[in-house]
Amino acid sequence: MNIWRQARWLEDIIPLKKGFKNLLHVLPYEDEFKDVDVNHYLPEKIVRRDIDIPAYPELEVVRHYVRLSQESYGVNTGTVPLGSCTMKYNPKINDVVVKNEVLEELHPETPEELVQGLLEILWELEQWLKEITGMDRCSFQVPAGAAGELAGALIIRQYHIDRGENRDEMLVPDSAHGTNPASAAMAGFKVVTLPTDTNGNVDTEALKASVSRRTAGLMLTNPNTLGLFEEHIDKISDIIHGAGGLLYYDGANLNGILGVARPGDMGFDIVHLNLHKTFSAPHGGGGPGGAAICVKKELEGYLPRPLLTRSGGRFVWDYSCDKCIGMMRVYYGNIIALLRTYLYILMLGPQGLREVCEVSVLNTNYLMKKLLNSGFYELPYGTRPRKHEVVFSARKLKKDVGVTAEDVAKALLDRGLHAPTIYFPLIVEEALMIELTESESIYDIERYVEALIEIAKEAYRDPQKIKNSPKHTTVSRLDLAKANHPRTLVLSTKYLKESS
Ligand SMILES: Cc1ncc(COP(=O)(O)O)c(C=O)c1O
Repeated sequence: MNIWRQARWLEDIIPLKKGFKNLLHVLPYEDEFKDVDVNHYLPEKIVRRDIDIPAYPELEVVRHYVRLSQESYGVNTGTVPLGSCTMKYNPKINDVVVKNEVLEELHPETPEELVQGLLEILWELEQWLKEITGMDRCSFQVPAGAAGELAGALIIRQYHIDRGENRDEMLVPDSAHGTNPASAAMAGFKVVTLPTDTNGNVDTEALKASVSRRTAGLMLTNPNTLGLFEEHIDKISDIIHGAGGLLYYDGANLNGILGVARPGDMGFDIVHLNLHKTFSAPHGGGGPGGAAICVKKELEGYLPRPLLTRSGGRFVWDYSCDKCIGMMRVYYGNIIALLRTYLYILMLGPQGLREVCEVSVLNTNYLMKKLLNSGFYELPYGTRPRKHEVVFSARKLKKDVGVTAEDVAKALLDRGLHAPTIYFPLIVEEALMIELTESESIYDIERYVEALIEIAKEAYRDPQKIKNSPKHTTVSRLDLAKANHPRTLVLSTKYLKESS
């Protein structure tokens, strides 16, 4: 079959024949390739002669997809207060810029000299992130926060090996995100868990008792996952460095201190930034995200390669790797997420970034006060002001009427609202982890608080009604294990036969 005959065949199944013909006209290289028989290059057994593509009227197709799009919920539709995720508004100008045709067609192998403008943007972005974090060098070789953690843990390992020290323990607080211990374990460390004290800080007495000549480092996020700033961060830094270890900053919660405080000034040696969180690249549904790993001067040699450098007024990739940890991925990061980050910082400027932090902290504390006053939800670890997020507990509801955090989350869906993160951090029973970000208005915050209060009242009146929710969503309660397909356990071959 000739390629252009195939195109005419396609034309037949598309109702708008005329428009399609015009489209074909603008296809490049039409003349050059019009006599090429593509099948000539394909093995006979894979050539498809009859293709049974279903044909539907255009209007039916349009309605189907519009309906599907209306069933999706995202930041463009309403509040997404997923704690630890920092789901903020992605300014539309970002989309306009990253949809640039030239960018879309750029091949990752494009020679440096043809992309000097883009490299200059990446260079400038690195300078800004260094300033924001208080670090000396950054790499965008890591595609996500967890990859940054792994890179950081590998750097810590290599650093100690180079010093001839056998340090095989990584300290991680019990409030940490699961990726912290996982990354440390992947880098070959034994994970030592640190308890949280009654004020929501790392228990410094336990920390003192845990450090030894085996301590490689401590992975910490500050503010922590309770939304609380570590009150003893100076002391923690002294203890870790005094024991010969390094301090790793999990930047997932940077929104809570952005433009106000810097990990580098708190004593951290390595920082990862979840660019898709703090700097607005959308990452719902698992990506595509972007991240950076930044280090202090003495650790620069360990950063993954290539590093972007300047030589004779040009930007070049430096692949030299005496002691670097290698590459974390092919090519250099997710350019689209990096560009969104660049635009976000460019638009806001230093004062705007500080405001991002201030408004997100204000929003969180406003919600915290209102919800606390209702008396329905408990606030573990005291009432001192939170930073970017707050973690309530639905323990009382569960004890009184059997309604759990999961039930509350499902009831929110029936009210047209997105659920918060639930059951994390693990140190809060029946956790409801709410993060509002700077994007949300007072109207949206109040609506959210009212919904949570209304659900609690309903739970006391008719708990089963809450337990039966959601009723107004496309699908009702899903089997949590099966909903996340890879976790579905197939326990017998009998099941496989029956379902095939
Ligand atoms: C506190 C914390 N650390 C690390 C991560 C991992 O980041 P990423 O999802 O970018 O891999 C997350 C993700 O939600 C997080 O909340």
